[in-house]
Amino acid sequence: MTVHFIGAGPGAADLITLRGRDIIASCPVCLYAGSLVPREILGHCPEGARIVNTAPMDLDAIIDEIRRAHEAGQDVARLHSGDLSVWSAMGEQMRRLRALDIPVSVTPGVPSFAAAAASLGAELTLPGLAQSVVLTRTPGRASSMPQGETLANFAATGATLAIHLSIQNLAQVVADLTPVYGGDCPVAVVYRASWPDERILRSTLARIEGEMDDQIARTAIILVGPALGGEGFAESCLYSADYDRRYRPQSAESPWSEWSEQDG
Ligand SMILES: C[S@@+](CC[C@H](N)C(=O)[O-])C[C@H]1O[C@@H](n2cnc3c(N)ncnc32)[C@H](O)[C@@H]1O
Repeated sequence: MTVHFIGAGPGAADLITLRGRDIIASCPVCLYAGSLVPREILGHCPEGARIVNTAPMDLDAIIDEIRRAHEAGQDVARLHSGDLSVWSAMGEQMRRLRALDIPVSVTPGVPSFAAAAASLGAELTLPGLAQSVVLTRTPGRASSMPQGETLANFAATGATLAIHLSIQNLAQVVADLTPVYGGDCPVAVVYRASWPDERILRSTLARIEGEMDDQIARTAIILVGPALGGEGFAESCLYSADYDRRYRPQSAESPWSEWSEQDG
């Protein structure tokens, strides 16, 4: 028996991996994080599967549910939204399961920041503008931030910031970032990326608050940084005609020419 943690993707039912879908189809028990996992994905569960929404449950109750499946020798599909590597609460579940000697596997999913970038048609790392993306959040009612992990500190690097769980703190986000990035810095808010009711707002740090849409209250990601403008960046060397590289050596003397022949 194994507990299979599966990233269920950002919302659209077809943004789940084939592996994730097939594991769901093989598990007689499915636990899903209710609010953000689309119901269509549960359609992959086998007939008669036990399907449990864990939104109203605490950690003890979730582990009890898994323990019962373990005792019955039944595999469990454990679904969380987006990918499991960020804000999934997988870590605390795994710690309990390891203590109980219950085997686990992890199948990645499409994270919400990637779905938001896709909806914007944006590359978040543009040469000369930003080469890093910071996945972060602001403090919430139940979660403080470690010292040093401030928006101003991250912005000081010039990176593109993908700010999660923070749409209700937009005023503070703007106040923290404007002194570093300036009021003209591009911002995009993507609400429910890839869901049918997705909304996109493109603006600047100076204007975003005044332009906010009342409908955008939860499940939104704020992307901020110079790269969001999509202009004024250099072309990469990757496809540059005269850049000597392994897959396109520029001469017989190129250190890459030998590699190229081997590849051929
Ligand atoms: C608990 S975290 C889950 C993050 C998830 N594990 C991931 O990989 O993106 C929930 C936050 O992720 C963001 N989020 C999740 N799904 C989203 C979507 N479809 N569109 C925009 N933001 C989303 C929002 O900032 C939301 O408050």
